[in-house]
Amino acid sequence: MTNFPNTRLRRLRGSESIRKLIQETYISPVDFIYPIFVTHGNNIKEEITSMPGCYRFSLDMLPNEITDIAELDISGVLLFGIPSKKDKLGSEAYNEHGIIQQAIQVIKQTNQKLIVVTDVCLCEYTDHGHCGITKGSEIKNDATLKILAKVALSHANAGADIVAPSAMMDGQVKVIRKKLDENGYEEFPIMSYSAKYASTFYGPFRDAADSRPQIGDRLSYQMDPANSNQALLEVTADISEGADIIMVKPALSYMDIISKVRSKTLHPLAVYNVSGEYSIIKAAAKNGWIDEDKMIMEILTSIKRAGADIIITYHAKEAARLLRK
Ligand code: PBG
Repeated sequence: MTNFPNTRLRRLRGSESIRKLIQETYISPVDFIYPIFVTHGNNIKEEITSMPGCYRFSLDMLPNEITDIAELDISGVLLFGIPSKKDKLGSEAYNEHGIIQQAIQVIKQTNQKLIVVTDVCLCEYTDHGHCGITKGSEIKNDATLKILAKVALSHANAGADIVAPSAMMDGQVKVIRKKLDENGYEEFPIMSYSAKYASTFYGPFRDAADSRPQIGDRLSYQMDPANSNQALLEVTADISEGADIIMVKPALSYMDIISKVRSKTLHPLAVYNVSGEYSIIKAAAKNGWIDEDKMIMEILTSIKRAGADIIITYHAKEAARLLRK
């Protein structure tokens, strides 16, 4: 088929117009969801040291930020909260006056159209920093499920548009779906962190959200980076439990997983371009070692090409600005 000299692939690379004509993948701000961190207090817009350009916002500072994000045509935000107190059960996570529940309301008062996605997990809210309830060194699956369902319902009650369970507990989508349905939220979508790997690339996020496990690691619930078939099992389980959107996370070391999940399922696929993937770009750019703008575009385009429909990325704002140029 590709027999030289009949075939010369360079014929379609000779000018910018021709290259554009055959371009297969486009990214747009509409593809993006921008993660933001919210915290108690007043007048706080505090830069996260390991994630330059990302901030923790107090509620009074949110409207400006939300207006900015919406003006860039970014589809939505993904909320993470830093609670005022932590305990063994992560009970602040489902407090109806908790930081996330309040943030949802502030955002909705500022802008109706921007999609508000909330992270449903306990690691920011537990004093031990694990995503579930612990007994000794064990993370208890079924005891955690009840709490996750309560958290999801509290987010729906506060006015969120989508809940995104990320605790990697078996059955989490099922119990959340059931809880939402029982409370009249049959039409409320779930975006499930289906294939979430136990990744070192989450390091900067754990500084940002203060969610580092105090003892042990997350290997008994998050996936082993060495596994690929397991990702499909996770995705299949979540879809059967009622997930509307599935997710692969992180992105860059997991392009094969994105592509595999894309080819084996029909559900919309979100991909999370995580904190460590962001920070390494920022660090290299600060040193003048890379062309940051071009690298951001290349990364986001590659994630989409691999099969993502939705890209969750800390680069969302800067990429949306670059796409306008
Ligand atoms: C909460 C959660 C984490 C991330 C998203 N939701 C941290 C973790 O699992 O340790 C990571 C996001 C990022 O690194 O950008 N469970």
